[in-house]
Amino acid sequence: MVEKVTTRTLLQMKRRGQRIVALTAYDYPSAQMADAAGVDVVLVGDSVGNTVLGYETTLPVQMEEMLHHLKAVRRGLKHALLVADMPFLSYGASVDDAVYNAGALIQAGAEAVKVEGASARVLETIRALIGIGIPVMAHLGLTPQSVHQFGGYRLQGRTASEQEALVQAAQAVQDAGAFSVVLEVIPANLAQQITQSLQIPTIGIGAGVHCDGEIQVWHDILGLSAHTLRHTKRFADLRETITHALRQYADAVRAKQFPSAEQSFEVEP
Ligand code: KIV
Repeated sequence: MVEKVTTRTLLQMKRRGQRIVALTAYDYPSAQMADAAGVDVVLVGDSVGNTVLGYETTLPVQMEEMLHHLKAVRRGLKHALLVADMPFLSYGASVDDAVYNAGALIQAGAEAVKVEGASARVLETIRALIGIGIPVMAHLGLTPQSVHQFGGYRLQGRTASEQEALVQAAQAVQDAGAFSVVLEVIPANLAQQITQSLQIPTIGIGAGVHCDGEIQVWHDILGLSAHTLRHTKRFADLRETITHALRQYADAVRAKQFPSAEQSFEVEP
């Protein structure tokens, strides 16, 4: 029998040197497939905004949209730890808002929530959420909710001072009580240094191979995204496969080859 993954499991995996496999999912069948493939952590990311809802960034994503997708994923998942992103403005305005919105995600089936950054407000939020029993995954480096502040999606931690700030931030989220931290698009050697300095697991994306685990976006690794990013790899080309299948379907309908007798029902008149 496959054991249920919990936040404790991830800490044990780090201690044992076992790599953590994390992946985003946004609906019921994807959750079932991720579980069947033995993925350890499923994140209902606010990347649902870019990947599924057609927004240009994650910033327009609303709590209602997160809850809608989270509930579908919850129904499909048995084994993996289910983490939900707190969308932009659901935790930035006040700690009370954050507690209320994180609580709504937990009530919808999440087992932990993820917040971006390590500002004083975010650290206070992490402590408040843990105070009411909600585990928190932190997220540092290229945090997409700050894209306008960064001036685009670019590598973080380029200079010595940026690197020092990220090392401090990682320590701060651990001290605040986060059970793990996502490191996004930072130099691999910096991610390695942070990983070695923390007790909690680091989960990289565009952060090299030395993190305790890796997270990727469903649409990127399956080739469903229109673009290929440097830090992702297509393990399948489903966009091409699906488009090809849809063309065959359309051709068959137009040529009256589908449906055939095989897919039709006849009764005696
Ligand atoms: O929203 C998301 O998909 C994420 C991952 C890229 C870590 O935050």
